[in-house]
Amino acid sequence: MGRPRILILGGTNEARLLAEALAARDDCDVLLSLAGRTEKPAAQPVPVRTGGFGGAAALADFLKAGGYDLLIDATHPFAERISTNAAHAAEAIGITAIALRRPEWQRLPGDHWRDVRSIPAAIGALGLSPRRVFVATGRQGAHHAEAAAQHHYLIRSVDPVEPPLTLANVDYILDRGPFTLEGELALLRQHHIDVIIAKNSGGAATYAKIEAARLLGIEVLMVARAEASAVKTVETVAAALAAIDHLFPSAMKRGV
Ligand SMILES: NC(=O)c1ccc[n+]([C@@H]2O[C@H](COP(=O)([O-])OP(=O)(O)OC[C@H]3O[C@@H](n4cnc5c(N)ncnc54)[C@H](OP(=O)(O)O)[C@@H]3O)[C@@H](O)[C@H]2O)c1
Repeated sequence: MGRPRILILGGTNEARLLAEALAARDDCDVLLSLAGRTEKPAAQPVPVRTGGFGGAAALADFLKAGGYDLLIDATHPFAERISTNAAHAAEAIGITAIALRRPEWQRLPGDHWRDVRSIPAAIGALGLSPRRVFVATGRQGAHHAEAAAQHHYLIRSVDPVEPPLTLANVDYILDRGPFTLEGELALLRQHHIDVIIAKNSGGAATYAKIEAARLLGIEVLMVARAEASAVKTVETVAAALAAIDHLFPSAMKRGV
């Protein structure tokens, strides 16, 4: 076979790092796909296409038409729809799919976590008495806060929450990780936060808020991930590279 053709579904730091490693080896053709959600996406080391495909069948058509040999789903662990589509599309046309998923964060001594299944469940779990809530789950899903208007919310996202929430007590911060422990401690203190809503995303870039919550004794309502993907899953960029070598040993050695 010629140079393996690989489509990476991205939107994460891991996807960018994997693309960077593959670009440096120059023994395969890589296209990185982004959903196009962020207004100013980070620069990428390989060619990029942007926007949804139009569902699983259309993704399968795209893979087939482009002659792709491998689909790597390196999307965020909470981007569930595209991951399901990826698994179905690869299966439909008989190519391998690999999911690159960072491991979940684990509760450590001193953590005050309550596990919840979704953002609406987290909002419900805040209770009736007014609390000062740091919503660290991004702009998608932030509107669920409107169901409990008695709380004061601090909402952090990469792009603005549009339309703004119909809440009297809400502050917005626009910021993009990685975040530092010092910065997160200062933010939590400045806004007198007593509870954080977080997704169990895993990884280092957004972990500082969890550490800061532990140090300040703040409760975290931790939104759990959905069921693990049905496709082969690796946890690190290095493991993804090893899996690619395993799939295409001769092509990768020849560097054709
Ligand atoms: N969810 C999060 O918390 C989160 C956090 C950080 C980054 N992200 C990134 O943001 C993107 C969107 O996340 P989401 O939660 O909205 O995803 P989602 O709910 O799983 O996907 C919704 C739709 O967006 C399109 N899409 C998603 N990722 C795509 C990609 N990499 N390339 C092309 N189309 C894509 C697909 O449209 P079609 O069905 O039309 O193909 C998909 O059905 C993902 O790429 C993800 O990695 C998400």
